[in-house]
Amino acid sequence: MRKKLVAGNWKMHGSLTDNAALLSAIKPALAGMEAVVCVPFPYLAQVQAALSGSSIAWGAQNLSDQPKGAFTGEVSAAMLLDFGCKYVIVGHSERRSLFGETDAVVARKYVAAQAAGLTPILCVGESLEEREAGITERIVARQIDAVIEAAGVASLARAVLAYEPVWAIGTGKTATPEQAQAVHAFIRSKIAALNATIADGLTIQYGGSVKASNAAELLAQPDIDGGLIGGASLIADEFVAICKAAAN
Ligand code: 13P
Repeated sequence: MRKKLVAGNWKMHGSLTDNAALLSAIKPALAGMEAVVCVPFPYLAQVQAALSGSSIAWGAQNLSDQPKGAFTGEVSAAMLLDFGCKYVIVGHSERRSLFGETDAVVARKYVAAQAAGLTPILCVGESLEEREAGITERIVARQIDAVIEAAGVASLARAVLAYEPVWAIGTGKTATPEQAQAVHAFIRSKIAALNATIADGLTIQYGGSVKASNAAELLAQPDIDGGLIGGASLIADEFVAICKAAAN
């Protein structure tokens, strides 16, 4: 059976003080349970110190596609490894829409992450206009194809996918379980057409306004294998409840 995995994406939130409180609340509550927190770069050392030896893994929210060099402001995969990261989010819709990351850039970052031994959490998803135009599947397929072309379908054995409809991110508007399941099933069947074993084993998270109150019904869908959690990952009780819903 494929693994259910919940990851928190803190985005550009947190402070040393707030993080310490959040981490000290979630660590004992999730003892023995697998979960991930993806935190801003400056807090990786703090998270490493707080979570080392626990069942919670950590990661970053972005990385450079370059290994090193004169790239002011960038952070390499090797640097993330230095701080014990296991995961890195790649291609989040905020990176795509606000920072101009194209499918090609996202694919290069995915390759760089895997080359260093990090597990990319590859985000895909359509905008509201794209959904209303009826082209959700075309958009998601294009985003996934860019990565498959760059890295091959077998690379998905070392990745996590996250379906995040852009219109559901930070809006309080969650996709219904049926809407989310339909896209997850589409993604899995698309990959299965290339490699059924890889598709069957692939963890596909749903992201977009997941909360403790709606996690169970989303996670009950057959092709939803966990969640990528924004706002609710900053609230200890919410994040813990979502992780527990995934474990049940
Ligand atoms: P929210 O859970 O705040 O909607 O954010 C989802 C997200 O973008 C996670 O990557």
